[in-house]
Amino acid sequence: MLEADGLRKVFRDFWNRPRTTAVDGVSLCARPGEVLGLLGPNGSGKSTTIRMLLGLLRPTAGRVRLFGLSPDASRARARLGYLPELSNLHKFLTPWETLEYYGGLFGLSAAERRARIPDLLDSVGIARKDAHRAIAEFSKGMARRVGLAQALINDPDLVVLDEPTSGLDPIGRHDVKEMIRHLREQGKTILLSSHLLGEVADVCTRVIILVSGRIHAEGELSALLQEDDRFRFTLGNLTPEAVDEIRAFLARYADADGVRVDHPSVPLEDFFLQAVGRAAPSASAPASAAAPAAPPAAQP
Ligand SMILES: Nc1ncnc2c1ncn2[C@@H]1O[C@H](COP(=O)(O)OP(=O)(O)OP(=O)(O)O)[C@@H](O)[C@H]1O
Ligand SMILES: [Mg+2]
Repeated sequence: MLEADGLRKVFRDFWNRPRTTAVDGVSLCARPGEVLGLLGPNGSGKSTTIRMLLGLLRPTAGRVRLFGLSPDASRARARLGYLPELSNLHKFLTPWETLEYYGGLFGLSAAERRARIPDLLDSVGIARKDAHRAIAEFSKGMARRVGLAQALINDPDLVVLDEPTSGLDPIGRHDVKEMIRHLREQGKTILLSSHLLGEVADVCTRVIILVSGRIHAEGELSALLQEDDRFRFTLGNLTPEAVDEIRAFLARYADADGVRVDHPSVPLEDFFLQAVGRAAPSASAPASAAAPAAPPAAQP
């Protein structure tokens, strides 16, 4: 689906002298149906890598194949959706006009556009009343949502999102994650970048951690994060006596200081979404945020 081999990018200065090695020997592949996260601190080369993968920036060295084709091939680009790091939306168009325009570029008929645009706007949480307002009047987060809709207008097989949650409030971030999960269920392949590790990492099936333009770690998140030499048991409600008894029992197998008993906490995001949902059940926020799908499960 997406393959890169030995990508390298050296930016040069005005006199053509090498100035920055932004990406230094990155090889990766995104398999169909996976959500691949490109994580790394600011300046680690995520956006540069993405731009080379999409054929928007010529690599100094290395090779990219998109759907088995060169990233310049129009047949490859037709199957691709891209949300750039910085919005490239036309400020004087409305969300509806923006999607009309990009839908037209991808060859969607007027009937297809009419059918698709309202659904897309709904899925990114742009209210009907805002669909015909100029994007210039929008907040950063609302404009980001329009950018996401634009990236999906052609029903792409591969969706590349450069910092999709940048500028979004917790409700927006939750919605983006839900959208990514939804796209994954539809069998789409997703490549996303972020420097907010906890933020989108939990939707990724695999992550690549870039540091100074090089791959530092890669693999399935659960495998990367799992501490094989520690164990955790999660139990239901217990009496204080039962807790003492179990603790004493466990102390036979581990150093007493090594046995930790505590109460798991709900992730802050779930707590926030519930609190917002309780405070304003009919707020203008998207429906999915006002009524979180399920009560948060206690985290182990
Ligand atoms: N057009 C350019 N000219 C010169 N240097 C550049 C250019 N674009 C990026 N760089 C440099 O390449 C390095 C990687 O930048 P890049 O934008 O790829 O990082 P990033 O991981 O996306 O960071 P962020 O999390 O801040 O978006 C940085 O040192 C940056 O200064
Ligand atoms: Mg970037």
